[in-house]
Amino acid sequence: TTNLPLKGKKVLVSAGGTRERIDPVRYLTNESSGKMGHSIAEAARDLGAKVTLVTASKLEYPFGVETIPVSSAREMQEIIMKDFDTTDIVVMAAAVSDYRPKHQADHKIKKTEDDLQILLEENPDILATMGNQKNKQFLIGFAAETDRVEEYAKGKLIRKKADMIVANDVSKEHAGFNKDTNEVIIFQTNKNPIHIETKSKKEVAKDILLEAIKSIQQI
Ligand code: PMT
Repeated sequence: TTNLPLKGKKVLVSAGGTRERIDPVRYLTNESSGKMGHSIAEAARDLGAKVTLVTASKLEYPFGVETIPVSSAREMQEIIMKDFDTTDIVVMAAAVSDYRPKHQADHKIKKTEDDLQILLEENPDILATMGNQKNKQFLIGFAAETDRVEEYAKGKLIRKKADMIVANDVSKEHAGFNKDTNEVIIFQTNKNPIHIETKSKKEVAKDILLEAIKSIQQI
């Protein structure tokens, strides 16, 4: 129907900043609050979708959404890939750590006289993994950039084989990490970029999903 355009569709959303263990009491993470991803999950629900939210955030679980808490990038990937085959739209709003400590200490690391080094190794790229395995899925990624927004966003669109990249310029006051509002540019292959002016993350989320629905209908 027109007001529930995602009825019968399965939407998978990731949110929040992954946490990568250093030792039992310390981890590496980033500034993502999960607000953008949780807003997408709520907007997808309101458009009629069956929604699964894989979240590394501490925010409340949205009503009417199957929510699965995760911590690290590898945990997030494992949960997401389980559901991938039966999913119609995936939205990767999470800020996934590109690296994790190579060794996770099983005891609290003690102070020493010397400098302390933490060796990092690369995490899997969840979006790129899906890009390589997709059949019918429409893949939406985000790009958090501080400069050369268009160039970097388009690079990610191609490299990760996504159908859409939503770029937020996180150097702007009212956009990006831990804000209640966002301002984004939507990039898709063979389409002009679409600029969405500053509004609440919930409204931005709805605009992104409506744009994806338009593109899916054109396929
Ligand atoms: O959570 P909030 O406080 O509301 O903030 C929202 C946000 C700024 C975190 C969000 O809007 C956003 O931009 N998320 C992506 C942040 C990011 O760091 O993107 P990236 O440029 O590192 O990665 C590009 C895309 O690949 C993203 O969809 C990301 O989820 C995905 N990725 C990245 C690395 C990795 N190892 N696996 C991935 O799947």
